[in-house]
Amino acid sequence: MKPGKNGSQLGFHHRPDGIWCDNVHLDSLAKKTGTPCYVYSRSIIDRQLMRFASAFKGLDVLPCYAAKANNNPEILRHIAGHTELSWGIDAVSVGELHLGLAAGFRADQMIFSGVGKQHSEIDLAVERGIVINVESLFELDDIIEIARSRGKLAKLGLRVNPNIDAHTHPKISTGLKKNKFGLSREMFDVALRRITEAPETLQLAGISTHIGSQITDVSPWKAAALQLVQLADAIHAKGGAALEFIDFGGGFPVRYDGDNEPPGVEIFSGIIRDSMAGAARPETKRLRIVVEPGRWLVAESGGLLTRVIGVKERFVVVDASMTELIRPALYGARHEIIFACNPTLPAVPSNGEGEGFEIVGPVCESSDVLASNIRIKHVPKKNQLAVLMQAGAYGYSMASNYNQRPLPAEHLIADDKVFTIRKKQLLLAPDPDLFDEPLDLPL
Ligand SMILES: Cc1ncc(COP(=O)(O)O)c(C=O)c1O
Repeated sequence: MKPGKNGSQLGFHHRPDGIWCDNVHLDSLAKKTGTPCYVYSRSIIDRQLMRFASAFKGLDVLPCYAAKANNNPEILRHIAGHTELSWGIDAVSVGELHLGLAAGFRADQMIFSGVGKQHSEIDLAVERGIVINVESLFELDDIIEIARSRGKLAKLGLRVNPNIDAHTHPKISTGLKKNKFGLSREMFDVALRRITEAPETLQLAGISTHIGSQITDVSPWKAAALQLVQLADAIHAKGGAALEFIDFGGGFPVRYDGDNEPPGVEIFSGIIRDSMAGAARPETKRLRIVVEPGRWLVAESGGLLTRVIGVKERFVVVDASMTELIRPALYGARHEIIFACNPTLPAVPSNGEGEGFEIVGPVCESSDVLASNIRIKHVPKKNQLAVLMQAGAYGYSMASNYNQRPLPAEHLIADDKVFTIRKKQLLLAPDPDLFDEPLDLPL
């Protein structure tokens, strides 16, 4: 990665005159644009893109970025335009499919995932030749019906649920039998039979799995990869299906809370290399490798800028809240936080009760806590700036209008310039046209 001007630091950091991101002074930015708002460093995304390319060098790999992590159209366009390695996209709704196409991702490098795909969504995927990662038998029925009526061949992946505990937060664990995701082995075999019986309508292009997010213990991920390779071998041994890809899913972790560095992307590419080398069948060894990183690509690039509204006892009330960043409330996620007045930080939230500060938002929920038990030397003052770090993934994309709060603006720092890549939503006014006419329903 090229350093910033004069070798200066990239990403979010302190300088004597306040908080900076790359070579942009965030107080000046915040004064101009207002808070709360998201700021992303394009250099950090580029760093991740280059690191990924180097970790997977020599492999036939198609990385499909999980757009749910951050679906800003400009960020999608940037990833689609990366020249070192061609990226595809993993989409979970018709909205994300359209965003991906508009951003310049090729339809034949897109994967459509999700447990509850609707007719109109399947229809678009079949029409555009987008691979559908099938997660249930009822979905397969819908695909057959739609592909037949369109006279098209639907390209499928089968997502297996390996019943493996990812050892991550239960709410981001997806690979256990009790989770709603993927096909059990029994369902997988039924789906495989149905696909072979309908070769004019269905093409099995690949198999996939995804056991969860923020995988810091790699052994379950390794077990799932091994299971997937064995499954590909078994399919090839039976003959019939000519697979094109094997999709190991996402889950590459991010360093959120000052804890030890989590396993890097190189460890995951190493697991894939070893698992593929261990395949019994030459057809399996030749498969194109798909992975679906989401947060790993964008989390570190983003920060949520917020200002202190006031301090009472241990509570630092800021203008950002769970509506901009719900991860702490939803998962107990711990994001580092930098305060302009505390230059030696970032401060790390710690678990449980303590004497530290609670960084809270204005929303009327006790769970509206952005960072807990924060130890800082200087008490923050009214209007001072703070940045919640590692907020580039599952930040804006999970934001809501709860308490009638508008969605915040997003700004991208690129080559020391700042571009507004999404405007702050206008204040939500009641729609004057609603309820004038009753709905016209048959009685
Ligand atoms: C099918 C699938 N692939 C990839 C991802 C991305 O996960 P992460 O952001 O942890 O890499 C998800 C996340 O929910 C997912 O459901």
